[in-house]
Amino acid sequence: MIEMQQVKKTYPNGVTALNGIDINIDPGEFVYLVGQSGAGKSTFIKLIFREEMASSGQIRVNNKDLLEMKWRDVPLLRREIGVVYQDFKLLPKMTVYENVAFALEVVEESPRQIRKRVMEVLDQVGLKNKARFIPDELSGGEQQRVAIARAMANYPKLLIADEPTGNLDPDTSWEIMKILEEINGTGTTIIMATHSKEIVNTIKRRVIAIEGGLIVRDQHRGEYGYEV
Ligand SMILES: Nc1ncnc2c1ncn2[C@@H]1O[C@H](COP(=O)(O)OP(=O)(O)O)[C@@H](O)[C@H]1O
Ligand SMILES: [Mg+2]
Repeated sequence: MIEMQQVKKTYPNGVTALNGIDINIDPGEFVYLVGQSGAGKSTFIKLIFREEMASSGQIRVNNKDLLEMKWRDVPLLRREIGVVYQDFKLLPKMTVYENVAFALEVVEESPRQIRKRVMEVLDQVGLKNKARFIPDELSGGEQQRVAIARAMANYPKLLIADEPTGNLDPDTSWEIMKILEEINGTGTTIIMATHSKEIVNTIKRRVIAIEGGLIVRDQHRGEYGYEV
């Protein structure tokens, strides 16, 4: 699903965020990305959906070569990938329903299909009854559930989440993890950057540790491994 060979990323200001990444992630995996702030986790994530481009190396995602890919083909790639952020990134003036529908309207679905799919994904995250609310009327955990629903609207094969529980209290974080585990259970690959030792050490999955732009550890059912 994701193959990287000798991937390097140097930003225009000269900072090298990734310095030779080799990794394979298979369909259906659940992977935690751990590492201290500035390690390169967000850069790794951004390379996967071509938010940023690698400076050198090879990246293949869903059998697409991301370095060869033309700009006009980037939207097609992104349709296959759902993205969730720490700060939710919902549109504040739109309702929950509209925030999710928006993700489908850009791919020109029929109105009937849109309605059906929006209610389906809202049901999946337990928010069908809040479709008419706006983000400000929701708790942080609910807002993140909307963001997950939006990310899942197009049936992505891959869901990437950059510190999705970073702004949430522990109880709410577990709710979010339960939803992510359910999504992974249906076959969707998940990559999640996190600083939560509790989550990584409780729900044991593959752990990829990044330090100074390099993978320093890659363990099946790994531990968080950093003092926090
Ligand atoms: N857009 C950018 N321009 C320049 N430097 C960046 C940019 N984004 C991140 N960096 C730098 O790249 C390094 C890795 O950052 P990042 O990938 O955000 O790490 P993490 O998510 O692990 O905290 C840091 O030194 C950071 O300052
Ligand atoms: Mg980050």
